[in-house]
Amino acid sequence: MITNKENVFQLDTAHTTYILRIDETNHVRTEYFGPRLTVPENYNFSKEKWSFAHGSSVIYDKSHPALCLDNLSLEYSTLGKGDFREPSVIIEDEMSLGNDFIFSNFDISEGAPKLSGLPSPHTGGKTLVIHLTDLLAKVDLDLVYAVFEEDDVIARTTRLTNDGDGVIAVKKLMSMQMDILDQGFSLVNLYGGWASEAHVIDKTMGPGIYVNDSKTGSSSNRHNPFFMLKAKHTDLNRGNAYGFNLIYSGNHYEMVEVNTYGKVRVQMGINPFCFEWKLSPSEKFEAPWAILSFSNKGTNGVSLQMHDFINKHIIRGPWALKDRPILLNNWEATYMDFTESKLHDLMKRASDLGIELFVLDDGWFGKRTDDTKGLGDWIVNFKKLPHGLSKLAEIANKNGMKFGLWFEPEMVNENSDLYRTHPEWAICVPKQIPSLGRNQMVLDLGLLEVQDYIISSVSAILDSAHIEYVKWDMNRHMSDFYSQRYNQGEFFHRYILGLYRVFEVLTKKYPAILWESCSSGGNRNDLGMLCYMQQNWASDDTDAFERIQIQSGTAMAYPLSSIGAHLSASPSHQVLRKTPIDTRFNVAAFGNLGFELDLKKLSFVDTAAIRRGIDFYKEHRHLLQYGHFYQMKTMQEDGYAVWMVLSDDRKEGMFGYFQGLGKSNPSIDILQGINLIDIAVYRVTARHQETNLKTFGGLINMVSPVKVNEDGRLVDFISKHKTLEGLLKKSYDETYDAFGDAFNNGAIKLEPQWAGTGFDEHVRVMADFGSRMYYFKVK
Ligand code: GLA
Repeated sequence: MITNKENVFQLDTAHTTYILRIDETNHVRTEYFGPRLTVPENYNFSKEKWSFAHGSSVIYDKSHPALCLDNLSLEYSTLGKGDFREPSVIIEDEMSLGNDFIFSNFDISEGAPKLSGLPSPHTGGKTLVIHLTDLLAKVDLDLVYAVFEEDDVIARTTRLTNDGDGVIAVKKLMSMQMDILDQGFSLVNLYGGWASEAHVIDKTMGPGIYVNDSKTGSSSNRHNPFFMLKAKHTDLNRGNAYGFNLIYSGNHYEMVEVNTYGKVRVQMGINPFCFEWKLSPSEKFEAPWAILSFSNKGTNGVSLQMHDFINKHIIRGPWALKDRPILLNNWEATYMDFTESKLHDLMKRASDLGIELFVLDDGWFGKRTDDTKGLGDWIVNFKKLPHGLSKLAEIANKNGMKFGLWFEPEMVNENSDLYRTHPEWAICVPKQIPSLGRNQMVLDLGLLEVQDYIISSVSAILDSAHIEYVKWDMNRHMSDFYSQRYNQGEFFHRYILGLYRVFEVLTKKYPAILWESCSSGGNRNDLGMLCYMQQNWASDDTDAFERIQIQSGTAMAYPLSSIGAHLSASPSHQVLRKTPIDTRFNVAAFGNLGFELDLKKLSFVDTAAIRRGIDFYKEHRHLLQYGHFYQMKTMQEDGYAVWMVLSDDRKEGMFGYFQGLGKSNPSIDILQGINLIDIAVYRVTARHQETNLKTFGGLINMVSPVKVNEDGRLVDFISKHKTLEGLLKKSYDETYDAFGDAFNNGAIKLEPQWAGTGFDEHVRVMADFGSRMYYFKVK
């Protein structure tokens, strides 16, 4: 709801209030952002009160001698009028670098406006636009606020219009700025690199400037655009937290400045790094949408609101809010070394296990036998696949599965027909030798002819076979940036605009396809991509233990239904860690489950474990993809992680309990949930898991009737065919009954862990990296 009383605007969502004021100098101030307020007669309560200016400050104008912009809470800021914090708008024209934007009028309308060439939230919202103008420079600045009431989200953007007669250069235009009072904030953001994306960092801020940004050309695995400000004493489920994200896939910039007056400035938008956009008379420039969300229910509170908003207003097309298929991807099973018969064999085994989608990854096109060649040539390699893609899709379909395909259309290898024909399409600085990444160069998507080539070559393949899923990859950062056609300061943004045009055309042309974006894993996981691609491959690291951190971080910002998570081989190809099969399943089950290993190499017991897992996932898929996700314990802080999902009606849910290292003399483990119905009785049942005989090493002789060599071939053979439970012919699945309040208050005590002194069927053998899933439902 948006209300306006004289010079104040109040934006209300279900649980939050945002108050803006046009002040006596005609600037727009942030007055309040926090829990929903009931407002009295007037807004005097929230107004900053000043009688005298601070010493050594610059007074904005003579008629308001107590006001200096440096100590006001502002919704935008410029250079040159006494605000010495980071400006949100920098424009250069013939006269100066400084501007003074003052209020001219406002309007309120239904819906959120669509930006041109940039993705926007779909459906819903109510919008306030505050129009500002710089009378001297003849430039207009609009501050746009779209209120998504039910989701507790406010989306913001800004636009500049050149009303003058000369060209101006936009050097910085933030999508949003707000200044709030300090609450002892810490900055929580996601950092990482290849195979280690989305690690959570939480740092307490003092006076100074904190920047979270990307300069790689995409939103990057270095610093995701999502971040939170967490007030002092806020934890996972309690206290004030503010969340921010950007609907943009290129270089981004988030800045938090704590100043000397205890004000915290937050900005978010396109990175001003190497950015300069020329604006001719009557042209306008729009910044990408930023989204803001506040909760007083801790960091989980913000994540839940963001997830809902993303599921409802970002992800679109027929796959939005739909259950996603379980897939097998052949990458870690074969890499590029596959033949038709190997693929047929994988398909048969996948289908037998109940897998629903087969994805053929890199290596099916051009002369692609390794990563030095072929990228750019989107033509089937008939040497490898003599019967082509249509036959493969047919076989997948005959096996009851959909067929999906990998592309990396933004790239080119020097050793490719595309490069030989169009070397000028690859990004490089004239006369310089370009630096390669993974032996490849990036095509300049700022060029219309490159966009058209990608659209037509990808379309030709999609038209040639029954392809129902596409994995769209992008495997390197940008270097040697240079635009042959446009101003250099426009290079990065034009790339992203070009990319969005390609997506716009392809996703409209093939609306039924399920799209998964990937950039060497999560190197371009952002809300811009999710506007076109419903899923994202979270990381090339499929090691379950590492994935706990990666998926915990990713799920702070993005819903489980957008996270691709696969069970792979042990030892893991990325870290060589050995992890139990059930843990590999349990981690991958919190998201869009997939498999990425050679099914032929699975032992009998591992095949049975996977079959059990798939049946279980199918039974609870909706909960695991769309349930409300809470992190109850984190590996970083607690040494073990507990995840919980809860259904909309709070009548059923799932816990994932993930151990880090095994403990000596372990104490009692508890299950603590949140938001379960206090007075309802729930039954909790552990998902059935079995224990690998080899877990016990030499101790196996304590239960075996005959002495065996634990490292010998006999134990090896038996362990592939029988689990401990199978051998003992005894198994027990933990079951607990309790009222919801017992869960909410951490009163559920689990069966004991293995403690080195004895074993019966009640002992939970977790060891290193062990885990359990607990399903609960009202009885
Ligand atoms: C990237 C992706 C992988 C795989 C390879 C293929 O690394 O993240 O999942 O598709 O490319 O080359």
